[in-house]
Amino acid sequence: MNEEKALPSEIERVLYTEEQVQQRIAEVAAEISERYQGRDLKLVGVLKGSVFFLTALARAIRIPVKIDFLSISSFSTKPSAPGLVRIAKDLDESIEGEDVLLVEDIVDTGFTARYLLQTLAARGPNSLALCTLLDRTSRRIVQVPVEFRCFEIPDRFVIGFGLDFKQLYRNLGCLAVMKPERNP
Ligand code: IMP
Ligand code: MG
Repeated sequence: MNEEKALPSEIERVLYTEEQVQQRIAEVAAEISERYQGRDLKLVGVLKGSVFFLTALARAIRIPVKIDFLSISSFSTKPSAPGLVRIAKDLDESIEGEDVLLVEDIVDTGFTARYLLQTLAARGPNSLALCTLLDRTSRRIVQVPVEFRCFEIPDRFVIGFGLDFKQLYRNLGCLAVMKPERNP
């Protein structure tokens, strides 16, 4: 079926087709495979947004990997002030002495990634780095080191490939921009 025809009406335009996303993930997976050759890599996914990216990435990585997940909840004291993050579901296993790659769907202001990197670093991994599907550097408030990224995106709300709007559209194969009137 032609994906363009099946797209929900809330979508303004497709940023990257499913084929483009898979192609880019394969390139980043090759970089990761090379960088971590001979080491035991653990991918740590942030539920739920990174699940689709993490599984695609893991399938494309050419070295054996372990997988674990955590989930977070973010809240702010006022709508314009993001920043408070806590772990709602922690990892199942210790990361002490391990080579850990934190896998995110998107790094936006950077608050979530910074919090997670600090929290995981305190647990004594052998190494810790961040890999994200999307990077929106134009909205960054706190600096975080992004070691691997698939796409830099404009300042528009994006759905698909794990990213949601009110928990919907995570299962879209492409990455798409929502119409402005539907933006949160
Ligand atoms: P940060 O803490 O501002 O970097 O925000 C990261 C979180 O906000 C992401 O993990 C997403 O869950 C959510 N988010 C930010 N931008 C978008 C978007 O364009 N679409 C869907 N979720 C987003
Ligand atoms: Mg997220």
